[in-house]
Order: sequence, then C-alpha cells, then structure tokens
Amino acid sequence: MTTTSDRPVSRRGLLTGSALATGGALTGAATLRLTADGPGAVQVPVAQVGGAVEPFHGARQAGVATEPQAHATFVAFTLKPGTDRAALGRLLRLLSDDAARLTRGRPALADTEPELGLLPARLTVTFGFGPGLYAAAGLGDRRPPSVAELPAFRIDRLQPRWSGGDLLLQICADDPLTVAHAQRVVIKDSRPFAAVRWVQQGFRRTAGAEPGRTQRNLFGQLDGTANPTPGAPTDAAVWVPDGPAWLRDSTTMVVRRISMNLETWDLLGRTDRELAVGRRLDTGAPLTGTAEHDEPDFAAIGPDGLTVIPDFSHLTRAHVTDDRQKILRRPYNYDGTPTADGHADSGLIFTSYQADVTRQFLPIQRRLAERDLLNEWTTPIGSAVFAIPPGCPDGGWIGQQLLG
Ligand code: HEM
Repeated sequence: MTTTSDRPVSRRGLLTGSALATGGALTGAATLRLTADGPGAVQVPVAQVGGAVEPFHGARQAGVATEPQAHATFVAFTLKPGTDRAALGRLLRLLSDDAARLTRGRPALADTEPELGLLPARLTVTFGFGPGLYAAAGLGDRRPPSVAELPAFRIDRLQPRWSGGDLLLQICADDPLTVAHAQRVVIKDSRPFAAVRWVQQGFRRTAGAEPGRTQRNLFGQLDGTANPTPGAPTDAAVWVPDGPAWLRDSTTMVVRRISMNLETWDLLGRTDRELAVGRRLDTGAPLTGTAEHDEPDFAAIGPDGLTVIPDFSHLTRAHVTDDRQKILRRPYNYDGTPTADGHADSGLIFTSYQADVTRQFLPIQRRLAERDLLNEWTTPIGSAVFAIPPGCPDGGWIGQQLLG
C-alpha cells in the first residue's frame, strides 16, 4: 500500500483530544468508573475498585456482557483420561464454589493465601465447555452444533500451544493480583481432573483511566465501537433464548490469538493506517464521518473516484447491519517478551460471543480471511471454540443443567 496524501497531521486535534480527555479525567467523571452496562450503570469511585463485586450467580454467566475489566487470563484445560460425567460434576462443583467465594471477596475453601482472596475487584470467572467435554461426559448429543473446531482459513498459522481445549476458565478483574490468585486456585483444584493446555494473559486500560471510553488495541485503534449495545434486540444475538435447560441463557465463545506485526505497521503513514481499518485513529470516526458512532457511508466517493472507505478495509469487510447477526467482541491486548534482537510479540486475544458461531461469527471471519487490508499486519496463531453454559443460582454449580 502506498501513502497518498497524509491528512494534515492532526497534532492540534490530538492535543486537543487528549487535553479534553485529561480535563474530563480531572473533573468528577474521572474519579468514577462504570461497573455495569447501559442505562442505570453504577459508578464506583476509583478508590473502591478493589471492593467492587460482579455477581457470580444468575441466569447467565458473568464475564460476557460485563463491562470488560482491565486484566484477563484465559486458562484452557485438557481433561485427564477417566474424567467422566460424574468426575466432571465434582470438578465443576468445586470450581463453581471457588468462583462464588472469590468473586465476593472471600477466600476459597482451604485457600493457602486467604489474604489474596479479599479484593474481588469485579472478578468474574466464566466457564466454557469445549467439544471434548461433551464427549468425555458421553453427552455429544447435547453439544451445540457450532461448538466445534473452526474450518481452516488461509490466513491462519495456528499453533497447537494456543489452540483447542476441553474446558476454559476466563478470569477477569480490575486487579492483576486478584486474577493471578484466582488462576492459581482454579488450576490447583483442577489438577486431579485436568491438565493445563494453554494460558493467555491480556490487558486493557487500567480501571478508571478512561471512564466510558472504547478501549484501544496495540495498533492504537479504538476497538469495540460497533459492538452491539446491551438490551433487546442485540441480546438475542448473544444469548440463546429458549430450548432445553442446558442451552437457555447460554452463548458460545470464539477465542483467536492474533499476532499483530507492530514493526511493519510502524512503517505505514497515518493515512494508510486509517484506510486499512476505515476509521480515524484519533476519534475512531468512520472516514466518512466526524464522531466515533457516526454511521459509515460505504457508498461515499472521494475526489479520486474511489470509495472514501476502501472496499477492503476491515470496517467494510466486518460490517454487519442485521442486529441478530452481530457478535459481541471483548478483546484483550497481549504483549509478550520481545526477542533478543527486539522483535515484538504483541497482538490481540480476540474473543467474541454469539448465540451461534456458524450463523454469526463464521460469515464475518470468511469475509475477513478472503480480503481484509488488516491481514497484511495480523496473523491468527491460536483458535478455540467453547459453549458458555447458563449461569447458576446461589448453591448451584455451572454445568448442573447439562451434567446434573
Ligand atoms: C488483530 C485483529 C483485529 C484488529 C486489530 C481489529 C480491529 C478492529 C477495529 C479497529 C474495528 C473498528 C472499531 C470497532 O467497531 O470496534 C473493528 C471492527 C470490527 N471487527 Fe475487528 N479487528 C481484528 C480482528 C477481528 C476478527 C478476527 C473479527 C471477526 C471474525 C473482527 C470483527 C469485527 C467486527 C464485526 C467489527 C465491527 C464492524 C462493524 O459492524 O462496523 N475483527 N475491528
């Protein structure tokens, strides 16, 4: 791609933008942080971040529609031979008990470091069931059909060390020590039943740093703008509305580890970076608009006779208009150890939640794999799909509807 006319460097705009953000940060808004989605969201002073609680019990699992916390770890397990339906029941009872206690700021049973369990910091522990779990339980007929390995895409360079898994625990909180402790507890309690297959750790802006703002990924882009907003009708895109008890209020999750080549991205001018995604870097506005949430105009033609938003931009290729076809993205950045000669190991732990992977995620991924300018700088290196079963009431356990 060649750089044409870099727009006048919006240094002034950038400075104004950040000045505004800082200004906002210094006035009331910045000392507060959203703890729940949408209207009626509760705001909690930053000083209380450690004590904030996301309820573990409910019809739907927490950690999906929950306003994303600053830190996440995704732990995928391979079940050990002999972990059958009954053993899975024991494992999931134990892990649900751990999650119920820790998310309330109480130590787990026989917690060896009880002091580390006292700050929930909006901890959520979300359980995902891979295809192997249904097979191990002898319940293959209850596996949602779209919970299966994704078809291969030509852009994929998948590595087994980041792919697959029978059981997933997604652990998120606004405090990294809380996440680390929960991870340690659940791995310890899983040991007789399952082996750790992979762990991926990710981060977003720290809690309260930019209240109410869309997060940025390591390309500097606002990432999450076009996410469906909570409530009808988009709820139906994420949650299964009816069916047997083990499906109602469930969803499915795709995890893709996507490496981002920051070094070749650095070589691009600002205009080319914006053309690749179809949005501005400063405001996140579509190239045909001025504000982040303006509707993109894919038909608008520029002075050069080409569409203002390139036909192969990420925005054009990923765009979904039908609310029922949308996916809920909840990505986390990762930044591994650079090589000795300074090459970065950075990218995105892309996660999406949708009622049906085949109907919603796959058409988007196919369009992106076929042609998306971002593919030049991004490479999927890990992939996994899980069912996110319904939640459980106080005293119940995750998976009870399926295995109980
Ligand atoms: C490293 C890889 C990726 C990066 C850096 C990235 C970045 C972005 C950015 C900056 C936007 C525009 C702002 C927004 O609406 O969030 C966006 C939109 C979107 N992306 Fe990605 N993305 C990546 C991978 C993916 C993948 C794998 C999928 C799904 C298969 C996907 C699906 C979408 C969708 C559905 C939208 C919203 C499009 C719309 O309706 O306007 N992205 N992405």
